[in-house]
Amino acid sequence: MRGRLLHGRSTKAKTVILGGLKDHLKTIRRSRRIVFIGCGTSYNAALAARPLLEELSGIPISMEIASDLLDRQGLIYREDTAVFVSQSGETADTLHALEYALENGALCVGITNTVGSAIARNTHCGVHINAGAEIGVASTKAYTSQIVVMAMFALAISGDSILSQARREAIIDCLFELPCKPHLPTFPAHSSFCCKVRGVLELDQEMKDLANLLIAEQSLLVFGRGYNYATALEGALKVKEVALMHSEGILAGEMKHGPLALVDENLPIVVIATRDACFRKQQSVIQQLHARNGRLIVMCSKGDAASVRTGGSCKVIEVPQAEDCLQPVINIVPLQVI
Ligand code: M6R
Repeated sequence: MRGRLLHGRSTKAKTVILGGLKDHLKTIRRSRRIVFIGCGTSYNAALAARPLLEELSGIPISMEIASDLLDRQGLIYREDTAVFVSQSGETADTLHALEYALENGALCVGITNTVGSAIARNTHCGVHINAGAEIGVASTKAYTSQIVVMAMFALAISGDSILSQARREAIIDCLFELPCKPHLPTFPAHSSFCCKVRGVLELDQEMKDLANLLIAEQSLLVFGRGYNYATALEGALKVKEVALMHSEGILAGEMKHGPLALVDENLPIVVIATRDACFRKQQSVIQQLHARNGRLIVMCSKGDAASVRTGGSCKVIEVPQAEDCLQPVINIVPLQVI
C-alpha cells in the first residue's frame, strides 16, 4: 500500500476531503439508502467497509453483486445512492448495473483504480483509489486500497457529529499508520511511526512455509465474521484464483448451520480471530472446532496466541493490531501471500 492514496485527502486537522465527492455530499447524506455494487474482490472490499459505513453514516447500506442485481432486476430508487466499486472500471456486469441504476434515477458514484475508465466516466462523481496498476489477474493492492478509500468515504459522509468525533479521529490516526511508504508531506510527525502493513509483510517467510504445508491439500476453509467476514471470502477467493485450490470463505456465525459437518482432523481451516467486538465469539468457534479435532490455523492479534490456543493446539499467525474497521487491510495480507 502506498502513501499516495492518502495524499491531500486526510490532514492533520483530522478531516477527510474527497474532492471528487464534495459537490454531492449533501445528496449522499440525504439518500434513503446507499447500495454498493461490484463483483469479486471489489464486492468483498465493499463488504469489508460496510460495518463502518453503517456506523458512521446512519444510512442503511445494501450490498449487491452486479450480476445478481441484474438477474433479479433488483430495486433501485431515485432516492438511492449507488456506489460502483471496480478496480478496472470496465467490468461488464458492473457497467451494466451502472446503466441500470442510471435508468432508475439513482445518484451514481464510482470508486475505481483506472482514470478515464467507463465507470469513472459514466458515474456522476467518484474517487480514484490510486493503487497503481494491478499487473496480475489477482487484485491485491487494489483490495486494500479500496477498503481504505471506502473508510475515507464513510468519514467524509459522516459529517462532524461530536458523538463520533473520537472514533473518527482514531480511524484517521490509524490510516496514517498503515502505509509502507511514509513519504508524504501531510504525514504527522509521529515519533513512533509504525507501518502496520510492513509489519504484516514481515510474515512473508512464515506464510510461504505454511503454503508449502498446504500445497498437497484439496481444500481450505476460511472462517471470519464481523469486519473480517469479507477477509474470509477474499482470502478464499485468492487461494482459488492463484493456487487453483478449492477454498471457501465461511461466516463463522453460520458454522453450526452446515459447515461443521466438514470438520475433521484433515481439512485445514483458517480462523480469523483478531481483537474486535467478535473476539469472544471467535474464541468459542475455535473451541468448537477443536472439539471436532479440527486442523486449525488461527490468525490473531499480536500477543493473543495464548488466548486462541485454549482447547487444543493449532498453528497461530500473529498480526499487528489496527483499528477494528481497518484490521481487514492487515488481515488479508497473509492470505494473499499464501
Ligand atoms: O476490475 P473489477 O474490480 O471490477 O473486477 C471485478 C472482479 O472480476 C475481480 O475483482 C476478480 O474477482 C479479481 N480478479 C479477483 O482477484
